[in-house]
Amino acid sequence: MKLAVSGKGGVGKTTVSALLAYLFAQRGMNVLAIDADPSPHLADALGFPEAENITPLAEMKELLMERSGSQGGAFYNLNPRVEDLPERFMVTKDNIRLMALGSVQKGGSGCACPENMVLRTLVRKLFTSESEVIILDMEAGVEHLGRATVQAVDALLIVVEPSRGSIETTEKIIRLAKEIGLDRLFLVGNKIRNQSDRDYITTRLKDLPMAGFLPLDMKVSDAEREGTPPFVASTELREAGENIIKQVMSNE
Ligand SMILES: Nc1ncnc2c1ncn2[C@@H]1O[C@H](COP(=O)(O)OP(=O)(O)O)[C@@H](O)[C@H]1O
Ligand SMILES: [Mg+2]
Repeated sequence: MKLAVSGKGGVGKTTVSALLAYLFAQRGMNVLAIDADPSPHLADALGFPEAENITPLAEMKELLMERSGSQGGAFYNLNPRVEDLPERFMVTKDNIRLMALGSVQKGGSGCACPENMVLRTLVRKLFTSESEVIILDMEAGVEHLGRATVQAVDALLIVVEPSRGSIETTEKIIRLAKEIGLDRLFLVGNKIRNQSDRDYITTRLKDLPMAGFLPLDMKVSDAEREGTPPFVASTELREAGENIIKQVMSNE
């Protein structure tokens, strides 16, 4: 299964990505978590101390080209299985592999082309078996929602907090996702204090299935400050995360 996590900046994409990666791994699944945010935080959220050893994904471009033989055939000669990806592009702990796009230096054109090409190729071509899941922690907003990349996922989770700005960004993401024909969309309500927060989200975003709600929890923000995983600190987060996984898997 291939999942992408999107939403406005700061809503909790990385927190949700790390939580889901951890819970899928706890279920015995092999997880490939990809930090596709140019200012990467997923390593900390997963508790991967040696993340600086990861070779950024953009450098895989040469490898994809080298092995492609002829033009346009990129990746076909590379067995597109997660377990066969070169070790230097990831750090591994328990059942989780982490890859990172790297801190992208965008030039005047605003295009992170090699990075996006690699990301797109990986997400589209990688084969995932029943016991494997790819989780893509995406860059904030919609402009960068790489169409070809997102088209290749099985579901897009949009993290939304009970704020006007977050709802507006979510509406834009929904429009874009529908435009490109992606219809497996789920909302994840985050930083929820009470029933009125839940109602605020569900009444404004009626048309999409709600995968679940995660509580606003100081233990989560404290963990972020310390650079430790939020799911270790917060039992409530783990429990709510389990329900989200059940929803996403049952609607598959
Ligand atoms: N459920 C939550 N309760 C409390 N703080 C949260 C929660 N989810 C996220 N945060 C905090 O909000 C900030 C942004 O979260 P993050 O996951 O990095 O967002 P994003 O990846 O969307 O930018 C972090 O400081 C994080 O600890
Ligand atoms: Mg993030």
